[in-house]
Amino acid sequence: MAENSLKVEWSDAIATGHRATDNQHKMLIDIINELAEAIETKQTDFKMRTILNFLQYYTEWHFEREEMCMARVKCPMGEKNKAAHRVFLEHLKKFQEEYKSNPSVDFAERVYKELVNWLVNHIQGIDTSLKDFSEQNITECKSSHNRS
Ligand SMILES: [Fe+2]
Repeated sequence: MAENSLKVEWSDAIATGHRATDNQHKMLIDIINELAEAIETKQTDFKMRTILNFLQYYTEWHFEREEMCMARVKCPMGEKNKAAHRVFLEHLKKFQEEYKSNPSVDFAERVYKELVNWLVNHIQGIDTSLKDFSEQNITECKSSHNRS
C-alpha cells in the first residue's frame, strides 16, 4: 500500500497460485482501488454507492466460486473460508446501510480501511491455502459448477 494512498497493490504474498482465483482477487483489488479513488477525490454519494454495490455483487460471485473450488479439492480451510466470507458480506452490507444514512467521506474512509485490511489478511491467511493443491485439480472444479 502506498504511504499516502488508500490504494492496495497486488503482491506475491497474496497469490494463491491458482490463476482464476488470483485473477478474481486482482479484480477485487481493482474495485477496491476505485473505491479508494472515490474516497480520496471526495466523489458523490451516488458514485460511492455504485462502487459499493458492484463490490458486493462481485464479492458474492467470487466467494461462491472460491468456496466451490475449496470444496472440490477438500481443502481443510474450506469451512473456515465460508464462515469468513459470510462475516465479510455482513460487514459490507452494514457499511452500505450506514453509508446511506451517513454519507460522509470520513466514515467511508474509516470503514474502507477496516474492510481492506480484513480482505488482504483473509486472502493471505486463508485463500493462499489453495497453494497446497495443484492447479490441475483446482482447474477441474470449473466443470463441476457449470450452471446456467
Ligand atoms: Fe476466501
